[in-house]
Amino acid sequence: MEIAQGDITTLRVDAIVNAANSTLLGGGGVDGCIHRAAGPKLLAKCATLGGCKTGDAKITPGYKLPAANVIHTVGPVWHGGRQGEPELLASCYRRSLEVAVEHGVKSIAFPSISTGVYRYPKDLACRIALDTTLTFLQLHPEIEKVLFVCFSEADFDRYSAGLDQQNRKPQHCPQ
Ligand code: AR6
Repeated sequence: MEIAQGDITTLRVDAIVNAANSTLLGGGGVDGCIHRAAGPKLLAKCATLGGCKTGDAKITPGYKLPAANVIHTVGPVWHGGRQGEPELLASCYRRSLEVAVEHGVKSIAFPSISTGVYRYPKDLACRIALDTTLTFLQLHPEIEKVLFVCFSEADFDRYSAGLDQQNRKPQHCPQ
């Protein structure tokens, strides 16, 4: 797992993840950036997918993006944390990685899902992103690289601290 700062739409990876909404028909934030950079064919393709449930993920080509594919996932809107938000956010990371494996994706980049328009507290979201991904990668070595793309410097510092903390935890050694 690695961390980068900047615009996810510039990355040449097998797949970038989009923090979409359940219509998959575009929006603001990272979703708007991805649709602008990918061009109108992405919206046309998304319109054929029948939307996407919160916590689930669907894949499309990347069209004009340097990334080969876009995995669209729908994060939960934060309503205080007692309406299943942590489980749904973890599911976004897990389902995106499952879809990636099903399509032979080896390098994947995530934005910080739900932490913009959907108001998920950034520290809590960061921990879920890192823990869920680490657990998945321990079972799926076929994914070679996961990049967490931080739009702000504050997010970059948050993810760096989270990753440091994870590296300090005692690791379970397989026999
Ligand atoms: N590259 C990387 N990260 C970005 C970029 C970018 N180009 N642009 C924004 N971010 P948000 P959400 C960060 O609001 O909270 C849309 O309208 C941003 O700083 O994009 O899941 C959808 O259609 C934040 O940390 O997604 C939905 O309706 C993170 O990406 C709704 O917003 C996520 O912020 C989804 O809300």
